[in-house]
Amino acid sequence: MKPPVLLTRRVPASVLSRLEEACSVDLYQGEEAIPRGELLARVAGKQALLCLLTDRVDREVLDAGADLKIVANIAVGYDNIDLSAARARGIPVTNTPDVLTGATAEFTWALILAVTRRVAEGERLLRAGAWKGWSLDFMLGMELRGKQLGVVGLGRIGTAVAERAAAFGMRVAACSFDRPEGSSATVPGGPDVEMMPLDRLLATSDVVTLHVPLTPGTRHLIDRAALARMKRSGYLVNTSRGPVVDEDALAWALGERLIAGAALDVYEREPLVHPGLLGLDNVVLAPHLGSATTETRAAMAALAVDNVLAVLGGREPLTPVSP
Ligand code: DGY
Repeated sequence: MKPPVLLTRRVPASVLSRLEEACSVDLYQGEEAIPRGELLARVAGKQALLCLLTDRVDREVLDAGADLKIVANIAVGYDNIDLSAARARGIPVTNTPDVLTGATAEFTWALILAVTRRVAEGERLLRAGAWKGWSLDFMLGMELRGKQLGVVGLGRIGTAVAERAAAFGMRVAACSFDRPEGSSATVPGGPDVEMMPLDRLLATSDVVTLHVPLTPGTRHLIDRAALARMKRSGYLVNTSRGPVVDEDALAWALGERLIAGAALDVYEREPLVHPGLLGLDNVVLAPHLGSATTETRAAMAALAVDNVLAVLGGREPLTPVSP
């Protein structure tokens, strides 16, 4: 008898067939997140749950899935999962680190370039038929060479973003909860990174980019006070988790031109976007695309499957989430 597992979204065929060889797969076929009631009903009797960041895996789900031996999130972030409830039930939780680092770093740079060179704003104007032709002072942006990139959170993705700063001739400052201030970090293939406290990083950086996980300590890390500390010519980029930024405060700061612009891939209440942001020209809004490449999404699904096969085969998970 193959162990029954629940997969809450379609994955590439080759990855699915590998899972099907070893498990009896209950696949939710919908295009959107599995409705809560279905998640609760279908997790019953399953030994593994392969889920997405859009699935809230809390006590209720873990109780409904009383036979679960693993929860494998197809994402590096795992704030959708109640880790302590899983731990209390002895259920390992895994994520998909590393395989999405490059794609997310590349997308962060896409946003940095888009917001500092007004790409989306220019395209909107052009499509609206409002372009009057080339002129010397039309839609000027900010050049990156010689400017300071401030990386908040120097983990895997933050480091990969810092590494790519060398290509644009930027200096890099960073703050990280696990590295001493005043030290300097070396990023392979990248510039030296000056470690500094968040306040100083905000006040001195031309582009601030966020790469921290969402925890109680990072919720609204960027609030009114933080935004007010930034340079008026500065830009904020967020490809981490929406609630790291207080969107009310950001809409206020952008509207008052307290900062020059922002580029967001993530939102406090996805898929909803703060209405105050939608009408502003100095913000680039992307629909959570950080890891959205064909290669990376396949690798994320494959890693989640590897974790499930390991645990159901009596082995250690490959990428367990540490408490
Ligand atoms: C993640 O993995 O946490 C991203 O937000 C989606 O790839």
